[in-house]
Amino acid sequence: MRLSPAAALAALVLLTLPACFTNKQNQGARLYGQHCAGCHGEQGEGIGQLIPPLAGSDYLAQHPNQLACIVRNGLKGPIKVNGVDYDQLMLGVQDTATHRQLSPAQITNLLNFIESHWGNHPGPAGVRTIAGTEAELRACNQQ
Ligand code: HEC
Repeated sequence: MRLSPAAALAALVLLTLPACFTNKQNQGARLYGQHCAGCHGEQGEGIGQLIPPLAGSDYLAQHPNQLACIVRNGLKGPIKVNGVDYDQLMLGVQDTATHRQLSPAQITNLLNFIESHWGNHPGPAGVRTIAGTEAELRACNQQ
């Protein structure tokens, strides 16, 4: 059987598209394992009254526009997550290899992973884009 160029292209796109998506999911999952799981748990379950959960977190669901800033700059001071009070310090996260800030693309993939697992959902703006993350990061210090 000979494929027409158009059919060959369509087949190629169909074959490679899922690979792209899986890759991003993998990067998000990998970054989560590297940077967050040690505290928030493999399944986002948190640690008792010390570390709040990310799985099914009402705080996470209610602050979608601040999550990129939390990853980059950390969070401190009293918060309530699913009815439990926390008053701890989370430092901003840096890339383990480069010791630089995580890039907007990395933060995008990481947050898309978190918002599509453990009963979490994307915020009102839907699946995150790099441009959306950049806009959130520019607004960090104005909150
Ligand atoms: C060293 C431990 C530690 C690491 C690593 C860490 N966090 Fe946190 N995180 C905390 C603590 C402690 C708080 C609560 C801060 C407070 O009390 O204000 C928190 C709060 C949060 C919150 C808001 C509350 C909630 O549970 O919804 C989010 C979202 C969050 N972290 C996401 C992340 C993500 C994403 C990563 C990885 C990039 C990460 N954290 C890495 C300790 C950590």
